[in-house]
Amino acid sequence: MRVLVTGGAGFIGSNFVHQTVRERPEVRVTVLDALTYAGDRESLAPVADKVTLVEGSITDAALVDSLVADSDLVVHFAAESHNDNSLNDPSPFVQTNLIGTFTLLEAVRKHGVRFHHISTDEVYGDLELDDPAKFTPDTPYNPSSPYSSTKAGSDLLVRAWVRSFGVQATISNCSNNYGPYQHIEKFIPRQITNLIDGVRPKLYGAGENVRDWIHVEDHNSAVWAIIERGRIGETYLIGADGEKNNLEVVETLLEIFGLAKDDFEHVKDRPGHDLRYAIDATKLRDELGWTPKYTDFESGLRATVDWYKANEAWWRPAKQATEAKYAAQGQ
Ligand code: NAD
Ligand code: DAU
Repeated sequence: MRVLVTGGAGFIGSNFVHQTVRERPEVRVTVLDALTYAGDRESLAPVADKVTLVEGSITDAALVDSLVADSDLVVHFAAESHNDNSLNDPSPFVQTNLIGTFTLLEAVRKHGVRFHHISTDEVYGDLELDDPAKFTPDTPYNPSSPYSSTKAGSDLLVRAWVRSFGVQATISNCSNNYGPYQHIEKFIPRQITNLIDGVRPKLYGAGENVRDWIHVEDHNSAVWAIIERGRIGETYLIGADGEKNNLEVVETLLEIFGLAKDDFEHVKDRPGHDLRYAIDATKLRDELGWTPKYTDFESGLRATVDWYKANEAWWRPAKQATEAKYAAQGQ
């Protein structure tokens, strides 16, 4: 099977490539990645001899067409993925998340290639803290940020290409991932690398916002379950019942580093900050028999801390510029 993985040099995409090479030797993997600030060739170094990396953009129609023509399946991770960046400059989000997805859809339509679209729970907006409800595939779309609205738009393009053109596609909407190779602009690796540097963790606002954490390996095993057993045209929500507020996450990290629970600082809140995400993954579990492996968040977090300690050469080059950007916005 020839699989084209877009965004395979990013966080979740590179973990997907590692998992695929490890568990599915019959799969031939080609990665298409623009190697933006968020993509890193080094994230694929351990599998470099087993994977072809093509540096290019998913908005390049001629390149996309030639790669899709030579594939049996496209797994589409490539995106601009950080909410804070989308608030500063939405333009690349519109280009990559909307135009890039459109470009891929036209190619899979032309060549009759199976497509799996990776999306986010943020398309559903947010929930109240005291609301017993969770997101389901029937929750109406209500995105808040330029990032989540372009992801919502890309999902709707996929649905339309399935219905209007018979494209063989599935969609998954996952909650917040953590694990190795996550860019240090994101919450958990930012705090881990701050703590390694002896800097106090930075909590937006009061830290009451809730995210539904899932280990990246569990996200990717669910993606394979959907590719292999999911129904065409369907949307599957991926989550592992990992709700935690940001304060709890920071406190757990401080404990792992042997520091006092209150050894962090509050910084400026994110404008339009979504309050709570929570996934009901019943459809994925019941229909496809998927279950997560990483059910103990604290031990998953400890392993992630160990990975960042052992792989400083991977993240160090980005640290200064990332923190300078946050400092300029009071965060
Ligand atoms: P990331 O920012 O770490 O990686 C994105 C990758 O896409 C990078 O390698 C980047 O170079 C590449 N890319 C960006 N623009 C491109 C373009 N025009 N052409 C080709 N490649 C391009 O993102 P991530 O956290 O790994 O997220 C991957 C996907 O999963 C995204 O679609 C995101 O919306 C979705 N998602 C992420 C999470 C999460 O918690 N991180 C949760 C749910 C869904
Ligand atoms: O829900 C899935 C989404 O999760 C994905 O679609 C996105 O691509 C991914 O980036 C993530 O979005 P969030 O905005 O939830 O993730 P982020 O890591 O930026 O922030 C997580 C929470 O932590 C959020 O409530 C903001 C807060 N935060 C973040 C940073 C960077 C802090 O309190 N301090 C920080 O320094």
